[in-house]
Amino acid sequence: MRKQRIPVAAPDLTGNEEKYVVDAIRSSWISSTGEYIRRFEREFAGMCGTRTAIGVCNGTVALHLALLALDVRPGDEVLVPSLTYIATANAVRYVGAEPVFVDVDPDTWCIDPRELEDAITPRTRGIIPVHLYGHPADMDAINHIAAVHGLWVVEDAAEAHMARYKGRVAGSLAAMATFSFYGNKILTCGEGGAITLSDPHLELRTRTLRGQGMDPERRYYFPVTGYNFRLTNLACAILCAQMERAERIMERRREIFSAYRRLLDGIPGIGFQPVASWAEPAPWLFCITVDGKEYGTSRDALMAHMDASGVETRPFFLPLHNLPPFRGESRRRGENLPVTDRLGAEGVSLPTFHGMEDSDLERIADIIRRYRMGGGSGLS
Ligand SMILES: Cc1ncc(COP(=O)(O)O)c(C=O)c1O
Repeated sequence: MRKQRIPVAAPDLTGNEEKYVVDAIRSSWISSTGEYIRRFEREFAGMCGTRTAIGVCNGTVALHLALLALDVRPGDEVLVPSLTYIATANAVRYVGAEPVFVDVDPDTWCIDPRELEDAITPRTRGIIPVHLYGHPADMDAINHIAAVHGLWVVEDAAEAHMARYKGRVAGSLAAMATFSFYGNKILTCGEGGAITLSDPHLELRTRTLRGQGMDPERRYYFPVTGYNFRLTNLACAILCAQMERAERIMERRREIFSAYRRLLDGIPGIGFQPVASWAEPAPWLFCITVDGKEYGTSRDALMAHMDASGVETRPFFLPLHNLPPFRGESRRRGENLPVTDRLGAEGVSLPTFHGMEDSDLERIADIIRRYRMGGGSGLS
């Protein structure tokens, strides 16, 4: 049995990653032009079922660029969940707009379509549903409300590589979608991101803004103020190798999810991430909720105990409407997000990565089961 600390995530770089990086270095194409970029963009679009994919330097930049391409401006409002990584709301602020927080559905943990209408004002321009912890948002319902109110929709699919909604792949479910390839994601290149989309006009605008605003037909002529948001050929070399093994990586992660469900089943107070009947979630991080009263000890006490036992975990994202950059505006709007607040206080992500051994999973489940039986260390 492995005795070392178990991290919450670790990349699997055991395929052609090293070979392709060496190849990119030897070719001297290490910046943002090269064969691996072309191949990555082609194959990633194919994987997502969109006409194109545009590589960018990280998932935060992908969101920022999507909002620039959609011409979101100061004074506009964008509906987002509060239970998400801060990048979703930060990107809205980067373009001078205001994120308006909407509660999540207890059955998906994603933005609740039933709560959207009440949050729409004359300043609302769009919606960014986040496929949280790999589970797709209810996109048909969200797209319907957006169409009725003339809003755009951008999927934040940072955590949901290859998730499916009613058989369709995340990334192809709205006007645009954004992805992250940070080191803890299912497919990674360390730091990287992408936008997937199918509209050719939006593609041209997005590619132009990504590349300093340069006219694609006329070198050093810049019709608009653009950005350097490009992804490197070196990063794409790693991504190409990752994509060759995407199915295998997914398969092992699905096994890990099934094992966790089996091993943790029936522990009072431990809940699992719900899965909607129409969803095939991406097996990103295995998440549980800890109901302190039923489990007998608090979520934070359990996490501290696991840490002391050599197992890294992560609490759920702190709801954004309570964080300093956003809470003033959120309170002014009178936002009340009870499901978000509950999940933010109860959720824990457990170690989930391709290289985990079955004995790691048994050790983690054993710690969680025994800590309850031992009475924990009291509710905090
Ligand atoms: C939901 C969500 N959106 C956006 C991002 C930002 O991606 P990146 O870290 O690549 O900038 C992340 C996280 O990594 C995320 O989890």
